[in-house]
Amino acid sequence: MAIQQRTAFFILFFSISYIPSLAVILRTTDKTVWANEFETIELTCLIESISTNNPRIEWKKIKKGVVSYVYFQNRISGDLEHRAQLREPANLLILNTSRSDTAEYRCEVAAIDDQRDFDEILISLAVRVKPVVPRCSVPVAVTVGTSSELHCLENEGFPAPQYSWFHDNEELPLDPKNSIKFINSSYTINSDTGGLKFRRVRKEDAGEYYCQAKNDAGYSQCPPQKMEVYDVDILGIFLKSFGAVVAVICVTVGVCHAHKHGCFSSKDQEGNNYKLPAQDDGVDYGDADEGHFRHKSSFVI
Ligand SMILES: *[C@@H]1O[C@H](CO)[C@@H](O)[C@H](O)[C@H]1NC(C)=O
Ligand SMILES: *[C@@H]1O[C@H](CO)[C@@H](O)[C@H](O)[C@H]1NC(C)=O
Repeated sequence: MAIQQRTAFFILFFSISYIPSLAVILRTTDKTVWANEFETIELTCLIESISTNNPRIEWKKIKKGVVSYVYFQNRISGDLEHRAQLREPANLLILNTSRSDTAEYRCEVAAIDDQRDFDEILISLAVRVKPVVPRCSVPVAVTVGTSSELHCLENEGFPAPQYSWFHDNEELPLDPKNSIKFINSSYTINSDTGGLKFRRVRKEDAGEYYCQAKNDAGYSQCPPQKMEVYDVDILGIFLKSFGAVVAVICVTVGVCHAHKHGCFSSKDQEGNNYKLPAQDDGVDYGDADEGHFRHKSSFVI
């Protein structure tokens, strides 16, 4: 701020007094620069006025409060060593930008023959990073009428991506109410967090889902995953199988019960009890019926 005011003051001073410039004054075309990762970007440090022939030019990188040299003693150093060049008059050209280049860069020019012999300019560079394939979670099977939530997450993209969801390759509008096709669907999409939430799943919501994470650097999407929607029938099937389990338990309990009775009534006939099934398998059902009847009567209990 103070520097800007000083610069303004000098501009004002020299334009009013018509004295030839004796100050080094810098200017940039962009104080906030966005670049896509792996592309080339030029940070401009233009010299508005200078009287010194060989000014000392330096570039520094300021990241999280740590200052390091980028251009010092006429050469590029640090992590930009083989990726940057100085271009006339004092611009910094960064080749193949990396996400780690996101920082503030300060161009400093010292001109000893000028009255005002120093100026600097701060430029902030943000390197956009294309999202990688997001992690998506889609439930394999849900029951009609229940709620369901699908998730999508991507952590690399910069700035943070916006999420959208696709159902059978068709993008789901943010609000189903705005679409003829999805008007009856109960979903909501949170494009910041990647959540796709169904309040009440319908049969029509079944299908393949995938999510897309997108920012200014590009987009990526996860492979489609199938979500099946079952009728309430599944409940019936479940109850039937549950009933079967109960029946099996009853039979088991019943058999045990009957067996117990058998044990109590004829403890000394234990040996004969083993032969009873063999008798049941025989052609003569006359005696066996009695045994069956006993079993049946114990079912009723
Ligand atoms: C750019 O940098 C990345 C690493 O950040 C490297 O993998 C890639 O090969 C580089 N590309 C070129 C053209 O130098
Ligand atoms: C939505 O529901 C209404 C009323 O139940 C029905 O008339 C209409 O056909 C449905 N639309 C779609 C696209 O399913």
